[in-house]
Amino acid sequence: MLINNLFSVEGKVVLVTGGSRGIGEMIAAGFCANGAKVYISARSKDIVKKTAKRLTKLYDSQCIGIESDISSIEGVKKLGNEIKNSEDHLDILINNAGAAWAAPIEDFPEIGWDKVMDLCVKSMFFLTQNLLPLLCKSANKEDPSRIINIGSIDGINNPEFKNFSYSAAKSAVHHMTRVLAAELVKKHINVNAIAPGPFPSKMLGSAVEFNYTELEQKNPRGRIGTPEDIAGLAIFLSSRAGAYTIGEVITCDGGLVASAGHDLS
Ligand SMILES: NC(=O)c1ccc[n+]([C@@H]2O[C@H](COP(=O)([O-])OP(=O)(O)OC[C@H]3O[C@@H](n4cnc5c(N)ncnc54)[C@H](OP(=O)(O)O)[C@@H]3O)[C@@H](O)[C@H]2O)c1
Repeated sequence: MLINNLFSVEGKVVLVTGGSRGIGEMIAAGFCANGAKVYISARSKDIVKKTAKRLTKLYDSQCIGIESDISSIEGVKKLGNEIKNSEDHLDILINNAGAAWAAPIEDFPEIGWDKVMDLCVKSMFFLTQNLLPLLCKSANKEDPSRIINIGSIDGINNPEFKNFSYSAAKSAVHHMTRVLAAELVKKHINVNAIAPGPFPSKMLGSAVEFNYTELEQKNPRGRIGTPEDIAGLAIFLSSRAGAYTIGEVITCDGGLVASAGHDLS
């Protein structure tokens, strides 16, 4: 019952897709700080290697950067092979890489639909499929392997921005999480999703010119998310403490979903 046992992720082998910056980096940092071996992946080789180097040094940990574009099945297979060539098992898969697109309904382009759906939904499913043999290797009744899918509160509430494909994709992520959870619990793999609210990142920042003041004011907690908020929840879901939590979509949003429709003034 000691907290060090309940929430330990020490020695776990983790893959965080899109771990080179933003929410993925925040989650990777949490695992690095607590003794896990963490693989992070992203398209930009320079940035993913730099982030891995920084996290390794900062936390005296093992963080390995892998260059990979998982928007296609070929890219998914390539990433899967890189992990299989280095590890004989995987304890925790964090499907975090995502992209957004916003445009008025009249102009919304097909590329803005396909890009978002392919990365957020299709690649998430096929990377999970590809890595199942590795996730099964160490999975057992006492300590299941874990998959955490990063959804969004835009898949629950009506979105702030005109991101038609993104909000639909994130809803799909949430339901896919429930479907996969029911399928994989029999193999001792727990699947859950986190639905973040606003966190500082390139994706959100570029939509608000990196000025988060208005989002902070609109948030019931009066702020945007921090690394501790998102890493803490991911660590809970990955640890002994989270071993009986399955198929959930857990918001991490300062109360935005809980307060939807309420007057916050
Ligand atoms: N920030 C928020 O407020 C917020 C809120 C709700 C949900 N989310 C979700 O959180 C996740 C992370 O978002 P973020 O805000 O941290 O975004 P971000 O700063 O744009 O980071 C996205 C990450 O994904 C990688 N990536 C993008 N396209 C990729 C591809 N085709 N193949 C492989 N990697 C790719 C990026 O690296 P490269 O560009 O080098 O590939 C980067 O590491 C996403 O699923 C997003 O939908 C974010």
